[in-house]
Amino acid sequence: MKMDSLQNLFVHELQDLYSAEKQILDALPKMAQKASHPELRQAFERHHQQTEEQVQRLDQIFQAMDQQPGDHKCRGMEGLIEEGDEVMNEAEDDDTRDAGMIAAAQRVEHYEIAAYGTARTYARMLGNEDAARLLQQTLDEEGETDKQLTRLAEGRINPDAMR
Ligand SMILES: [Fe+2]
Ligand SMILES: [Fe+2]
Repeated sequence: MKMDSLQNLFVHELQDLYSAEKQILDALPKMAQKASHPELRQAFERHHQQTEEQVQRLDQIFQAMDQQPGDHKCRGMEGLIEEGDEVMNEAEDDDTRDAGMIAAAQRVEHYEIAAYGTARTYARMLGNEDAARLLQQTLDEEGETDKQLTRLAEGRINPDAMR
């Protein structure tokens, strides 16, 4: 596709996010299944539901712009998820695995926070207020998820992994 304006770059960023979210949708149920702390399992399950809504928001933005999600693959997210898989498989006990999955999940959230922040700003600058509002909504959810993971890690899961 053409990449000669902020408008085109905006579409590219949205396609990258769409691919990232789809990959996260596949990864989260596996992470929930492997989580041994029930509160971590619930956090992954809840974020899976949120992620479905986040994909719907992106669909809504594409439709309003008469654009398609396309078949671009977000290789950044692919790498983050691969590393998460590694730690999930290499951890030798449940608490260490839970702590490692939080570390991986927070990398994913920070990637999303960076990408949604950029996309929201592009939307604003391009005068696409509807898209800016939807992207901000998702950005807020990603930020909340990140904070919740910090609370779980510091409060319970990292201490359990120290024992
Ligand atoms: Fe997301
Ligand atoms: Fe997320």
